[in-house]
Amino acid sequence: SSIETATFECSAPSNIALVKYWGKKENQIPANPSISFTLNNCKTITKVNFTKKESKDNFSFDLLFEGKSKDDFKPKIQKFFERIEVYCPYLKEYHIVIDTENTFPHSSGIASSASGMAALAMNVMCLEKEINSNLSEDLFYKKASFLARLGSGSACRSIKGEVVAWGKNKTIKESSDLFGVEFNDIHQNFKNYQDTILLVDKGEKQVSSTVGHDLMFGHPYAEKRFEQAHDNLAKITKNLTEGNVEEFIKIVESEALTLHAMMMTSMPYFILMKPNTLEIINRIWKFRSENNIPVCFTLDAGANVHVLYPENVSVKVLQFIQDELVDFCQNGQYICDQIGNGAESK
Ligand code: PMV
Repeated sequence: SSIETATFECSAPSNIALVKYWGKKENQIPANPSISFTLNNCKTITKVNFTKKESKDNFSFDLLFEGKSKDDFKPKIQKFFERIEVYCPYLKEYHIVIDTENTFPHSSGIASSASGMAALAMNVMCLEKEINSNLSEDLFYKKASFLARLGSGSACRSIKGEVVAWGKNKTIKESSDLFGVEFNDIHQNFKNYQDTILLVDKGEKQVSSTVGHDLMFGHPYAEKRFEQAHDNLAKITKNLTEGNVEEFIKIVESEALTLHAMMMTSMPYFILMKPNTLEIINRIWKFRSENNIPVCFTLDAGANVHVLYPENVSVKVLQFIQDELVDFCQNGQYICDQIGNGAESK
């Protein structure tokens, strides 16, 4: 390429799945479709400098995390570059300096792989746009999502849109296994939907999501589970469009518990929920039925609880969280977030 040196800065948010991705085939192809809310405040901000180098034989890069060199993340980045090499052949022409930070506390148990890989993919696309100024905006975001997927599956849902679906399905015509697509037909009831993340356990995960996905191979309930995800995607998109918060809640909570049920019924089996996770879930159920306030929970592959609710009940729900749930969080920590738009470049 003709570009000698270039520096970019991109941010990408985390996302929280409503219908969960759990199980994958070769080349980061999901075993079932998923759909998520894009978050707004939990972000990775990544600055990348590309400078032409002599040899084109190897990838050459440095990694800084919050200003300090961080070698433990290097193998993941190396693997990412190797996977995207055929789609971005210009990368080996450059020495790449990656300088990255998260807006959420380090080792908070919030997975940074989705936001991190999405932010890095955006930076790569900024270079590609510089090399090929004809690249359309549509293709820019599509390919950014495609590349992010090769870094971490769920990262493809952190590029563009408030609600993003990934994985070929009958409900969303333009859906694909290769990249995330925006789901636009959202009722006012879901505008500015809130996600307060209760940090129950900040420890390292005992089981990585890579291992978890693999355990869906030969899992006794796999086929039924994948079918169910298709059904739930059809139902939840209908609820999102019609503004049916009650039915939305049923699917979201069932999906969270099913994800963990798959972990408990794999071989080897494991449990990522903690006693406080269950305390919180029970208190959310009690609060919801006693006050008739549409608040629900979802879980990632960990012990933390995402509390989801409409903006117009924020004051009441935050009071409830203060009064009843904070005691079950590690050091009383939680993060207030809400639906956001996706990645940005500056
Ligand atoms: O993107 P991965 O490979 O880390 O998988 C993430 C899987 C879940 O977070 C548990 C579910 C999802 O759809 O995000």
